[in-house]
Amino acid sequence: MLSPERPGLFRVLCLCALFEAACLLNTGMLFPRESSSREVKELSGLWSFRADKSPDRNQGFDKAWYKSRLRETGPVIDMPVPASYNDITQDPTLRDFIGWVWYEREVVVPARWITDEGTRVVIRVGSAHYYSIVWVNGVKVTEHNGGHLPFEAEVGSLIRKDPTQPCRITIAVNNTLTLETLPPGSIQHIDDITKYPKGFFVQNIYFDFFNYAGIHRPVLLYTTPTAYVDDITVVTDFLDNTGK
Ligand SMILES: *[C@@H]1O[C@H](CO)[C@@H](O)[C@H](O)[C@H]1NC(C)=O
Repeated sequence: MLSPERPGLFRVLCLCALFEAACLLNTGMLFPRESSSREVKELSGLWSFRADKSPDRNQGFDKAWYKSRLRETGPVIDMPVPASYNDITQDPTLRDFIGWVWYEREVVVPARWITDEGTRVVIRVGSAHYYSIVWVNGVKVTEHNGGHLPFEAEVGSLIRKDPTQPCRITIAVNNTLTLETLPPGSIQHIDDITKYPKGFFVQNIYFDFFNYAGIHRPVLLYTTPTAYVDDITVVTDFLDNTGK
């Protein structure tokens, strides 16, 4: 038989679970829909793209590729977003590439977004496989671990800093799979320099499909008023046979 304390305990547990879920997500992240108070600018199309083929894949960070236009850091190619970059060209080194790739796009934003301080401007990446870092005009705005879910960051103050500049968005994406990723994989370094180039490594995988990588869902800029609906929770209940 249920003791009278049980429902109370259950409620506390539910509250804890809700609180944890809210902490993990930290915002509701409703899908952006255009309305009389929200505008959406979709950034699908060709972005500048450069794979960091340096042995430790770290040249982009060492040379701060996010600080200037990507084409000023070295050769870039056009890359469609959304798409899997390793399924696009005929270059086998890009098809088999493991490590950081860099995407960049310059966007002209509507003047009203800049002049109207009451407008929140948010960048939203639908998904990017696997680990991503996002900069706007050279300033890091967010970092995300996970290849399948959306993530976003507020960027209004950055694009208002210098309204004469277009808004330059840089996204670095790393497709390395480890035992902590979904799907999992592991990196194997091969140190025999008589047979392999210095720093040579292979990605081992434990699944039977291709490790598609890149920005896989659209990147959007959208606005909301500063007071906005962040999340909606519908709590259902029933009384006898009737839902409430
Ligand atoms: C990025 O890629 C390199 C090369 O595979 C790897 O060593 C490094 O751990 C990766 N970093 C992240 C955050 O995935």
